[in-house]
Amino acid sequence: MSAPSLPRLAVLISGRGTNLQAFIDACDNGTLPARISLVISNNPDAAGLQRAEVAGITAKCINHRDFTSREAFDEALVQELRAHAVDLVILAGFMRILTPVLIEPFLGRLLNIHPSLLPRYPGLNTHQRALDAGDTEAGATVHFVTQELDGGPPIIQARVPIQPGDTADSLAERVAIQEHMIYPIAARWFVEGRLRLSEHRALLDGEPIPATGIRPWAV
Ligand code: GRF
Repeated sequence: MSAPSLPRLAVLISGRGTNLQAFIDACDNGTLPARISLVISNNPDAAGLQRAEVAGITAKCINHRDFTSREAFDEALVQELRAHAVDLVILAGFMRILTPVLIEPFLGRLLNIHPSLLPRYPGLNTHQRALDAGDTEAGATVHFVTQELDGGPPIIQARVPIQPGDTADSLAERVAIQEHMIYPIAARWFVEGRLRLSEHRALLDGEPIPATGIRPWAV
């Protein structure tokens, strides 16, 4: 009898792929009982593509510049995700705004990580905005993706104190360490069947997750 097959993940990237690396490591060391079936980058120069290659994972570049509309690009992604029978789609620094063409068929199976304490600072330049506002803490939020940009229900949120002299780069570096811990945890909850999206709420073990996401620790 063959062993039960592992849930299949796709990781979508645009850049250096340190979150992708966290998923590769978590699958390798067994803390995430899943396998990455596919990595897609919209950017041919994404350093994350090499990480996939080194790990022996199928990696494709689907360049958004080759398409005449966001919808046509998303349709190409959907075809690829379906061809690989993907169970969960992980957006990991994927710098494209998604349309319903991709969001609807994968609703509830589509996660993102955003480098701020959502609902604060959706969009870009989150760390600089936190510094400019004089915030005392920054962080990252894993959330379900819905039609609202960076607005889907939060799942897990890590907080990072802002230190005197912090720059956007120094803060990003410390937040990234937390990102690499919390994102595979959220995926593990999903593949274990503990996490789901229901009526625009995230549920863990059937209980609604608070609007801040679960806050496992403050560092
Ligand atoms: C991360 O900060 C993530 O929160 C944001 O994009 C960055 C991606 O970094 N969405 P990497 O490509 O995973 O290193």
